[in-house]
Amino acid sequence: MSQFFINGGRPLHGEVVLDCAKNSLLPILAACILVEGRVELKRVPKYSDVLAMCNILENLGAKICWQGSSLFVDGSTIDKAAICHELACPVRSSIFTLGPLLARLGKAKVAYPGGCDIGLRPIDLHLSSLRQLGCKIIEKNGYIYGEKGSATDQSIMLKFASVGATENIMMFATLLPEQTKIVNAAKEPEIVDLACFLNRCGATITGAGTDQITINGVKSLHGCQFLAIPDRIECGTLLIGAAMTGGQICIKNAIEKHNEALIEKLKNCGCKIFSDQKGLHLSSPKCLQSYGEIETAVYPGFPTDLQPQMVALACICKGCSLIFENVFESRFNYVGELLKLGGDVKFKQSVCIVRGREKLYGADVSATDLRGGAALVLAGLASEGYTTVSKIQFIERGYFNLAQKLTSLGADIKRL
Ligand code: UD1
Repeated sequence: MSQFFINGGRPLHGEVVLDCAKNSLLPILAACILVEGRVELKRVPKYSDVLAMCNILENLGAKICWQGSSLFVDGSTIDKAAICHELACPVRSSIFTLGPLLARLGKAKVAYPGGCDIGLRPIDLHLSSLRQLGCKIIEKNGYIYGEKGSATDQSIMLKFASVGATENIMMFATLLPEQTKIVNAAKEPEIVDLACFLNRCGATITGAGTDQITINGVKSLHGCQFLAIPDRIECGTLLIGAAMTGGQICIKNAIEKHNEALIEKLKNCGCKIFSDQKGLHLSSPKCLQSYGEIETAVYPGFPTDLQPQMVALACICKGCSLIFENVFESRFNYVGELLKLGGDVKFKQSVCIVRGREKLYGADVSATDLRGGAALVLAGLASEGYTTVSKIQFIERGYFNLAQKLTSLGADIKRL
């Protein structure tokens, strides 16, 4: 089992380039099932979730090949419609294959998805929407069985703007003969990126990034070259890390608009943040003030994927901070580990109260999930003394070469 060994107390300093977004790449890989041709995805980091999706695609009959950091996926040979438990369970994104398999092969048998333990993560919206679009869906013995049929209604109104459900419907509808509308669609940048990818392959999707997406079905999709957007959660994690360590960084390929909610809060703490032609700059103040309150919400609200890192930050801000988790029901599992580093954190159900302390002190802690694990790494970087973070397989689901990147910014961190 690998772990991070951190000698804390060094400020993050210098320039860094973000990797492509995990949450764009995972649905895009599922969308490759729709494509009867070769796709080249450029600059793909080997997140373990990406590798798990590659395994799934290979098992379905796709040809996968890496050339440097380019990932080639040829879906023209896909002929299997079943994904077993062993392949589906390691990742949440395995559920993204349901829509594309039904669209391409007319049937699917997909085991329930897994993913990080951050509460119940139902897939009812995915299933009810596909049913509404004419699919017969049965859940039995841990599998979802689907069969394509004719639609009863081509307008899907989501009762919650779910990212995954929006993506699944969008992919399924791409190859339908009719026009499909998604109302109350999720507006995350990764939805826009998936729509861009599909359009590059010959789909006709409009409205992505707004709450109404229109998909005019096409007969087939062809291959393309594509570069996914920079990862806004990695961007946020590094900005928060720089703030926590008294650092000064420039993120060269950051898209400021994707992180507006975070930037506002970091400015409340006293950080100076601005963009110029070099990138997005942050310099931290001598003494961090509390950012007050955050409430996680769908985009463009405060991202739930940056909530744990913000709780870590609050531990060393002057004053009290309040965090409301509105997206996932139990996303404070990591808090117990933060206490070991000296954080003064209390939570009840979906609310967390943090009283800032002058210092955190290194300790042995264990990641509980991807973003909670990232929060522990940041806390370790800002602590006095040595911290080990174990169970980093959770962190490596969505951060690639994290220790190397942080080392290049002046941190003392090793992956052991
Ligand atoms: C995606 C992101 C994840 C992020 C989340 C919210 C990927 C691979 N993952 O996850 O990193 O934290 O968006 O920004 O893109 N829900 C239902 N029924 C459903 C679907 C969702 O009740 O059928 C609920 C979930 O339980 C959760 C909320 O809706 O409480 C948000 O889920 P959703 O937006 O679907 O997130 P994911 O696509 O799973």
